[in-house]
Amino acid sequence: MARNLVVSILALTSLCIGLVAADWNILNYHHHRKSTGLRSTATSSASSLKSYCESWRINVELNNIREFEVVPQECVDYIKHYMTSPQYTADSERTMDEVRLYLSKCCNLGGDGKDAWIFDVDDTLLSTMPYYKKHGYGGEKLNKTSLEEWMKQSKAPALEHTLKLFHELKDKGVKIFLISSRSETLRSSTVDNLIDAGYHGWANLILRGLDDEFMKVQQYKAEARKRLINDGYRIWGIIGDQWSSIKGLPSAKRTFKLPNSMYYLS
Ligand SMILES: *[C@@H]1O[C@H](CO)[C@@H](O)[C@H](O)[C@H]1NC(C)=O
Repeated sequence: MARNLVVSILALTSLCIGLVAADWNILNYHHHRKSTGLRSTATSSASSLKSYCESWRINVELNNIREFEVVPQECVDYIKHYMTSPQYTADSERTMDEVRLYLSKCCNLGGDGKDAWIFDVDDTLLSTMPYYKKHGYGGEKLNKTSLEEWMKQSKAPALEHTLKLFHELKDKGVKIFLISSRSETLRSSTVDNLIDAGYHGWANLILRGLDDEFMKVQQYKAEARKRLINDGYRIWGIIGDQWSSIKGLPSAKRTFKLPNSMYYLS
């Protein structure tokens, strides 16, 4: 009887540990620990690392942590876990739901062809995850040459949540502008990649020419918006994964930031 009890407690405990390991969410994790009374030095130091990395990630999203060149080494596993988790997808889908909510009442879409929306390309429309998977999930310093070699292969997959919204916007008659920090030399690979991934019918794809290379990304993107506004467009929104895509003036009526804690472009 006592032996059976020990066996079932052991089984239950390993089940709980299994659940904890499979579950990245820090709140659930704490809640779970409290309710099971699990306690060991190993789990508690794992928990403080997790909580350190979670607060690092959140502060990147809040734009408090800026200009980082690499993800802190001790957080690489955590960032990898987040960026490939169902939570990343849920967070991104939530963003799209907020865009839909906004669209349902924000804008008196004129039907004069002057309603505009802006998207980033990388990690907004297309995922660079296959590249970063081979390059340390943000834990390695960026090698622009090798990233561009990868981009030239036009193999980046679509981010499904954005793909859906892209077409919904297009169906409403909104003109879609893609403003990317990719170089002009990547134009044909980028167009091929976007089309293969299911994107078509954008109004313009704006890439960085030689003159723009001297500007920071944020300034280059703001200048591109200024030209759109001068052309009479009403920019209702921007969706991007980098703060440099949504900050700076002129802006849009609203901006939406997608999660990305693997790299920072300023
Ligand atoms: C960057 O990538 C290129 C192309 O893959 C490679 O030849 C070069 O050695 C890399 N540079 C560094 C500093 O790793």
